[in-house]
Amino acid sequence: MAQVLIVGSGGREHAIAKTMLASPQVTTVFCAPGNPGMVADQVQLVAIDELDLAGLIAFARKQKIDLTFIGPEAPLAAGIVDAFLAADLAVFGPPQAVAQLESSKAFAKQFMQRNGIPTADYRLFHDHVAALAYSEQAPLPQVIKVDGLASGKGVTVAVDHPMAADALAQAFETTDTVLIEQFMSGFEFSQMVLVGGNRYSLLPTAQDHKRLLDHDEGPNTGGMGAYSPVPQITPDIIQETIQRVIVPTLAGLSREGLCFNGVLYVGGILTSKGVQVVEYNLRLGDPETQIILPQVTSDFYQAIQDLMAHQQPRLTWQEGETYLGVVLAAPGYPSSPKLGVAVPTIVGADYAGVWGKPGQLVSAGGRVMLVSAHAADLATAQRRVYAQLERVLTGDLIFRTDIGAKGMGSMANPGSPA
Ligand code: GLY
Repeated sequence: MAQVLIVGSGGREHAIAKTMLASPQVTTVFCAPGNPGMVADQVQLVAIDELDLAGLIAFARKQKIDLTFIGPEAPLAAGIVDAFLAADLAVFGPPQAVAQLESSKAFAKQFMQRNGIPTADYRLFHDHVAALAYSEQAPLPQVIKVDGLASGKGVTVAVDHPMAADALAQAFETTDTVLIEQFMSGFEFSQMVLVGGNRYSLLPTAQDHKRLLDHDEGPNTGGMGAYSPVPQITPDIIQETIQRVIVPTLAGLSREGLCFNGVLYVGGILTSKGVQVVEYNLRLGDPETQIILPQVTSDFYQAIQDLMAHQQPRLTWQEGETYLGVVLAAPGYPSSPKLGVAVPTIVGADYAGVWGKPGQLVSAGGRVMLVSAHAADLATAQRRVYAQLERVLTGDLIFRTDIGAKGMGSMANPGSPA
């Protein structure tokens, strides 16, 4: 029987923990540091920060953990997998050299360029004056990206030149590497793949909603809701994504000596030129994971073990239903979320930025929980989630009211701000 350690504290980690606990092989799931919203699902919290690599290694050793699964990007970028492997501990996640595909947008763009992977044209700048001069004569909209991790918030889609100039000024306050990309117009989707050396296994497609407000307005966030699978991403488009993106990405990494076990997340966009890559992540997406993992119908723990042994996993998924989740956030999110706002207890929800006792949770961060439902069609899944929110929500939490609208064709998809 197995014990699993999940590193991270958000809704994604809550969903991974529940999926691991559903395995007949898993007796105990620890989450470091986790959050008190997980306790009702028998997840054991461990008070070790996700960046305390030495503390996590000591815990995994002492507790005889069979598998550590890394949720968020920050510990991956800090080299947690390299540290676990050096300590001879089983860990699912990419080493730091591979995690750069997410932690450095410049690295990712250069990798895509040298491996012929379709993506938007871009220019890289280390100098504010040169960036501004380029931006002033480049076509609009422009996508301005800070190089480095920014929890989905380091990106601005500038629709006019003053907005681009402001974004560049802000970007160069925090970094000396900034990208200016051509804006891609199309239908965005997330295609994640579990990777074990040269084996891989696709997860169902999903679509995130990165903007704070309905109709894709307002600032970028970590993600305000998602649904899965995405009806517009047909089997043909999935095949195209495999052939044009996933296979060449894994082959390119392998050629460059960067084989890994972990997750490849393709932030894709379906454009008039076919599937293009908006971004890579090297971990499961949040909030997509919360509505994808409940679709697993086989032993997820065994699938991860198979991948770590570089064998093809037998991973099966439900077919015929759509899963939809809506993120609830503290007022003021993303710039200054209010702390201490009451957070409801909802069975089956995935909790994130909360503290307090189970049953008396309050906000401790921006996104606090995700509420989901599934049904035979997207419209019914959407209705179920919003009906539930109407029944239980009394406080100040904020959420979008149009999650799933693009999948139903009732809202245009304006493009690629990720
Ligand atoms: N859903 C986007 C992300 O996890 O970065």
